Amino acid sequence: MRIGDLEVVAAREADLGAVVSILVEASKWLTARSINQWPLDQLLAKSTVSWISERCRDGEVFLVQEGPEVAATFTLVPRLTFRDHRLWGDRDDDAVYLHGLAVRRRFGGREIGRRIIGFCEKMGFDLGKSFIRLDCWKRNPALVSYYSGLGFTAIGECESGIPGYEAVLFEKALPVS
Ligand SMILES: CC(C)(COP(=O)(O)OP(=O)(O)OC[C@H]1O[C@@H](n2cnc3c(N)ncnc32)[C@H](O)[C@@H]1OP(=O)(O)O)[C@@H](O)C(=O)NCCC(=O)NCCS
Repeated sequence: MRIGDLEVVAAREADLGAVVSILVEASKWLTARSINQWPLDQLLAKSTVSWISERCRDGEVFLVQEGPEVAATFTLVPRLTFRDHRLWGDRDDDAVYLHGLAVRRRFGGREIGRRIIGFCEKMGFDLGKSFIRLDCWKRNPALVSYYSGLGFTAIGECESGIPGYEAVLFEKALPVS
């Protein structure tokens, strides 16, 4: 699978370390900017790492490569997992859920994240889904505007069960015009 000059490959369980290292880089970058969106201890908690590993096993985690270099990762889940149920409650099985989107800082400023989201919308549409959904930290106005600017609609807010993480629930209808 390709996004222009970038290649998208499904991560295997053996790629767990590569996936987590991108998320750790993002966590440290955010923390250094006083954005407490992805605290390292929560990211590296056993339950989080196990969840990522299970998604790798299920072929739902992806690495985005430019040549031999990994530029980004994302997870696209075509059903409501228990993690999303905590946020979204009971929902029809009509959406893909985007998680763990992170672009290595070396690849920042090239709209790779925006292009990945477009790719996910197409994947969701091809899977016959009506919506793409994601949650984002409410206390991060820059990120909230980022997703609004990409055509997502905030359809609610909720406590996630993770201390300090209040989420804005974003949804976008597929197909995209
Ligand atoms: C959000 C992200 C996927 C967007 O990727 P992109 O479309 O390629 O855009 P860029 O990485 O160039 O970032 C665009 C701008 O958003 C800012 N930004 C990125 N993530 C941010 C965040 N979590 N909080 C606040 N600002 C953020 C960048 O600093 C940049 O600002 P600038 O234009 O003033 O330099 C990517 O920046 C990223 O991996 N961020 C860290 C992890 C993250 O927040 N993921 C989303 C989880 S919901």
